[in-house]
Amino acid sequence: MRVMHIVGARPNFMKVAPVIRAMSAYPRLFQQVLVHTGQHYDYQMSTLFFEELHLPKPDHNLEVGSGPHGAQTGKMLAEAEKVMQEEKPDWLFVYGDTNSALAGSLAATKLHIRVAHVEAGLRSFDRAMPEEINRIVTDQVSDLLFTPSQDGNDNLEREGIERGKIHLVGNVMIDSLALAIAQAERFAHLRAPGLSELMERLEGQRYVLVTLHRPSNVDESSALSKILSALVAVSKRNQVVFPVHPRTQQRMKALGPEQWPDSLHLLEPLGYFDFLALMRKAAVMVTDSGGVQEETTYLGVPCLTVRPNTERPITITCGTNRLSPLGGEALGAAINEALDARGSGDCKGPPPLWDGHAAERIVEVMVGL
Ligand code: UD1
Ligand code: UDP
Repeated sequence: MRVMHIVGARPNFMKVAPVIRAMSAYPRLFQQVLVHTGQHYDYQMSTLFFEELHLPKPDHNLEVGSGPHGAQTGKMLAEAEKVMQEEKPDWLFVYGDTNSALAGSLAATKLHIRVAHVEAGLRSFDRAMPEEINRIVTDQVSDLLFTPSQDGNDNLEREGIERGKIHLVGNVMIDSLALAIAQAERFAHLRAPGLSELMERLEGQRYVLVTLHRPSNVDESSALSKILSALVAVSKRNQVVFPVHPRTQQRMKALGPEQWPDSLHLLEPLGYFDFLALMRKAAVMVTDSGGVQEETTYLGVPCLTVRPNTERPITITCGTNRLSPLGGEALGAAINEALDARGSGDCKGPPPLWDGHAAERIVEVMVGL
């Protein structure tokens, strides 16, 4: 079976790594081809994760780079079609909800190449999110849909997708996290310049860890300003550590020069192990990331998601996640409240099948075809 994996953006790398590893255990059954679209290209948004996760060097890099949705997705579609015609895979594997997954799945389905979607079925029911469109379209053209939780199966069945195509396998992002935790010695050597010193200074102190990159939070200067003012207010009582995504860096620069308090630590985007080292010990995580909502659920770290909705409701019902108010003062108050609270949800996490073996279950399905 010739399997092509298409990846391109930061969260794709943690998701593809366990699947490649699980398929590699059957070298006579799977021939694997790895394609990087080039959606993310900075060292600390891409190559660093290939090194840390021991991913093979991509067989093809489409080098599409950044751009508006139509231009970026269109370029990926054209380039992905060429490599698929050359490599002739039997299956295309796509991951999550990025433009790379959308372009890959569209190119493949038009070439009659079967598509497997890993992390299928998630829905925020908010079509203003570009990812929601990517999820719906990718799921509709997929032949196999691997879901992380039962709500994914329910959403897909409601949208008319045949039950036989849907497989509840668990969460591949947690596979990478569980492996990382098992390699705890890797947290001893922080890579980012100055991070060891910062961690030493934070030792014994409660700190808030922040990531933000959703267009709805960072592209509008009024929304971004409100969030930043909440972080500044929180930093009066607690240390705040904020590795800043490149999209957000650009928007913060556009807001103009700003003097940040010493207790608000703005960092470059971090490598996986550096980031996990910070997240494991955070008193509260403040984020709009999909993957981080899941990782905090697994780690038991209280998480405030700065969004009006989430496509990952299980992180609320079965985890530590809560949706936060969007306004400046209300957000600051919610962070302070979360600093004093412990856990939430009706069931004690982690959710069923978030156990480090999701990729093996995907391979079992493939072997049984
Ligand atoms: C993308 C995904 C989003 C995912 C996020 C993970 C889509 C529609 N969005 O959003 O679902 O949650 O990745 O991080 O697929 N940039 C750099 N260097 C890089 C990459 C990007 O400077 O290596 C800057 C560029 O100015 C670019 C901007 O960041 O325009 C946004 O990048 P893009 O990939 O378009 O969207 P993300 O916000 O990263
Ligand atoms: N992450 C990282 N460094 C950072 C911020 C996040 O390695 O500075 C990891 C995080 O642990 C998770 C993934 O990146 O595994 C989530 O990616 P992101 O938030 O960019 O995308 P999303 O999950 O929202 O699509």
